[in-house]
Amino acid sequence: MDRYAVFGNPIEHSKSPLIHTLFAKQTQQVIEYGRQQPDANGFNDAINTFFTEGFIGANVTSPFKLDAFRFANELTPRAKAAEAVNTLYKRQDGSILGDNTDGAGLVQDLQRLWGELNGKRLLLIGAGGATRGVILPLLTAKVQNIHIANRTASKAQQLADRFKKEGAITASGFNDIPEIQFDLIVNCTSSSLDGGLPEITPSIFTNASYAYDMTYKAQATSFMVWAEECNPDIRTADGLGMLVGQAAESFYVWRNVRPKIEPIIEIVREML
Ligand code: ATR
Repeated sequence: MDRYAVFGNPIEHSKSPLIHTLFAKQTQQVIEYGRQQPDANGFNDAINTFFTEGFIGANVTSPFKLDAFRFANELTPRAKAAEAVNTLYKRQDGSILGDNTDGAGLVQDLQRLWGELNGKRLLLIGAGGATRGVILPLLTAKVQNIHIANRTASKAQQLADRFKKEGAITASGFNDIPEIQFDLIVNCTSSSLDGGLPEITPSIFTNASYAYDMTYKAQATSFMVWAEECNPDIRTADGLGMLVGQAAESFYVWRNVRPKIEPIIEIVREML
């Protein structure tokens, strides 16, 4: 039986084993999928042992995505762009491929919810690893342009500089966001996790059609509630679909089969 696991610390609350078990059932595959919690400095030893023992793939979450990036023998372009790896795959020749499926997970979920992304004007809030991981997949999905706004403007500017060869991308702090119409606003900060909000002008929502929060909760996140207060016509969603979407893309990398994410999102939502 093909064996996989998710690596993180802490890991006990990870939904990946549940999601991959549901994918396997849906696509009539037989797999085993567990959890591994190395010590903060123990990722390399743990992952070496893991592959030596015959496991063939791993998901990697906080705080080990950079360790996984360094561990891989070869990287996909989207993993290089993200500077982080959330999916490792042992190939037939024994080499380890490092991939990053987070951006594909977001793109898949946005398309499922609100249709194609081509031509859309995007505002991304935040400039950390979560933002870096999704820029190339969003540009590849042919969005018209991306503006990154971050509390610390210099970090947004660094990201924009890094990706400007790949497409139309600009950056600013929170106080000087250009007064243009954004179609879709994505909160890439973790501010909603503790009920907080980015200190940003509510006028960004006035003419926007969609607001997406990368975090998720059983109820609407603080960012979703705020977006709807600012614009009652806006459509909102949380990041549960991105979580299931990145898992589906990993499953596809490993098994060349694409699970349907919608029924799995519904099941996982019921359990939040
Ligand atoms: P990660 O790699 O997980 O994305 P990170 O690199 O620490 O984490 O980045 C977190 C991002 O969320 C940053 O853009 C951060 O803004 P700063 O660069 O100014 O620190 C942003 N962030 C976190 N909490 C925030 C809050 N309450 N309001 C606004 N931005 C916030």
